[in-house]
Amino acid sequence: MIKGFIFDLDGVITDTAELHYEAWKKLAEEMDWTFDRELNEKLRGISRMDSIKVIMDHNNATLEEEKILELATNKNNIYVDSLDSMTQEDYLPGVKELLTHLRTEGFNVALGSASKNAIKVLEQLNANMYFDVIGDGNSVAKSKPAPDIFIYGAEKMGLQPDECIVFEDAEKGIDAAKAGGFHSIGIGPEERVGHADLRFDSMADATLFEVKAHFKELFS
Ligand code: BG6
Ligand code: MG
Repeated sequence: MIKGFIFDLDGVITDTAELHYEAWKKLAEEMDWTFDRELNEKLRGISRMDSIKVIMDHNNATLEEEKILELATNKNNIYVDSLDSMTQEDYLPGVKELLTHLRTEGFNVALGSASKNAIKVLEQLNANMYFDVIGDGNSVAKSKPAPDIFIYGAEKMGLQPDECIVFEDAEKGIDAAKAGGFHSIGIGPEERVGHADLRFDSMADATLFEVKAHFKELFS
């Protein structure tokens, strides 16, 4: 029986990929590294430190751990500044309606994000009231594709993984949900999230009606 939902943040609740892209691009330019939107796609869902390592591998760059941390912090400062321009208008289409619907029907709702800036993003969107539990990049040590952040959310809601549905836009996020024994909904193209139990092209299609229709036996 489904009793709770766990939402990824970036790419599910709001689209921050472009802001992450701009910030990494700026850092890459300073370092004389190549960085483009294709590479940015590979960073979807993975932690900041994993992200900079992907960019460095792509550029055959090696640096001391301390320097890597400093560069990741610089990128983060650029990203955090850019979040100031985010407003309550920046929910992805359909998200507010779905979150409101889940509240009305009394489901438990958790955030399960890899981002250490999740609180700031939720504040910019004024989205705190939709969540019973906030799991972010500070909540667990092992990031996606490890299932830890979703397990954290489920435990805090007092639920088992098979009582929860995870919403994710990242390949590694769906991997994490599956590894933890959660039901999963992928948001985005087949090539990225086709391994989810159910997939929608966008959050606008992901109504509670459609979700219930697909997971029928789990809601009765
Ligand atoms: C994920 C994003 O939600 O959070 C990734 O999809 C990002 O692109 C990761 O790297 C970590 O975010 P932050 O805000 O802690 O740098
Ligand atoms: Mg995401």
